[in-house]
Amino acid sequence: MAAPGENLRINPDRLWDSLMEMAKVGPGVAGGNNRQTLTDADAQGRRLFQSWCEEAGMTMAVDTMGNMFMTRPGSDPDAPPVYVGSHLDTQPTGGKYDGVLGVLGGLEVVRSLNDLGIRTKHPIVVTNWTNEEGTRFAPAMLSSGVFAGVHTQEEAYAKEDAEGLTFGGELSRIGWVGDEEAGARKDRMRAFFELHIEQGPILEAEGKDIGIVTHGQGLSWTQVTVTGKDAHTGSTPMPMRKNAGLAMARILELVDEIAWSHAPHAVGAAGHIDISPNSRNVIPGKAVFTVDFRSPDVAVIRDMEHRLKTGAQKICEDMGLEAAFEKVGGFDPVTFDAACVTAIRNAADRLGYSHRDIISGAGHDACWINRVAPTAMVMCPCVDGLSHNEAEEITRDWAKAGCDVLFHAVVETAEIVE
Ligand code: GLV
Ligand code: MN
Ligand code: MN
Repeated sequence: MAAPGENLRINPDRLWDSLMEMAKVGPGVAGGNNRQTLTDADAQGRRLFQSWCEEAGMTMAVDTMGNMFMTRPGSDPDAPPVYVGSHLDTQPTGGKYDGVLGVLGGLEVVRSLNDLGIRTKHPIVVTNWTNEEGTRFAPAMLSSGVFAGVHTQEEAYAKEDAEGLTFGGELSRIGWVGDEEAGARKDRMRAFFELHIEQGPILEAEGKDIGIVTHGQGLSWTQVTVTGKDAHTGSTPMPMRKNAGLAMARILELVDEIAWSHAPHAVGAAGHIDISPNSRNVIPGKAVFTVDFRSPDVAVIRDMEHRLKTGAQKICEDMGLEAAFEKVGGFDPVTFDAACVTAIRNAADRLGYSHRDIISGAGHDACWINRVAPTAMVMCPCVDGLSHNEAEEITRDWAKAGCDVLFHAVVETAEIVE
């Protein structure tokens, strides 16, 4: 493969300006973003990204899941493309960089190639995957999952948000149902690279510029429904209560204990909680919440799932309540492609950035794409490891280093044409 020259660098100011421009779309309430998937703000962000890509000479294809593929042609029409990207959707109280850095980093790679007049043998396709976050429509990474054949499109279209609106209906409403069959191109991918902020504290604490992501930890989402009985908080004697809120509190203690029992590499929490009827003077008759367990070890994930079910069942039985469990998301731990990981490590070395290998704590589209194409990820630090929070922050230098490494890895894989 042609090795890119030492002198190749992205334009860090342009990358930063684009990040700040995109952050104006779907602003949050505290300096971050609320650009949830398939909202009007999502559509606006897509259009902005499309316009930038088209200005950079790329052509757009959109698949039936709304995944966007922006292509810079290669010199060999038969050469499979190198993919690069991430997601533009955010959490309801999301930051400006989670996902966005990877998409706009891909765009910056193409803009920099244009500046330098460099052609590659393989096309480069910058991708925005729909609904990575999984906030409105569980599970996370839904559309890269359909693309990779993990979920069916039918299942995905039927997913409902809290208001009962469907994924399929909302995708159509915002006007982003494409005509390309989802996954049609999955067997013609040379590689996929995703740049992302770490979303954890390790790189910053160790003063490293770059994380070379060798693995992704596995994830399991179990939605638990506890059913008791709504009753008056004042007049119902303690022995007669069927308090679903109390059962949930006990189960959440159990979740914490289970995760701690596998310390330091396992984690567990419930971030989604609905208590019903959620009225000050009604004993809650129903609690619905999603337990999120993660670990790099699949046996640990299975153990945590099992202990949650048996433990929560026992808590509910002892209190005379019903418990039901539904697996609403998950994937087993991921090992990224050795050649792609090496391309990233070589790039970091060549550019003189300090680096370490790292396991991704978060889920990423790369975790699904790894099933259908050689895949790896580059990470840069984020301040205090904070993410999924409007205060999420990175420095320009971190963004620059991450995108320079992405640039070199992509260009090396796409092969410069002399
Ligand atoms: C995706 O953002 C996740 O939950 O890790
Ligand atoms: Mn993300
Ligand atoms: Mn996220």
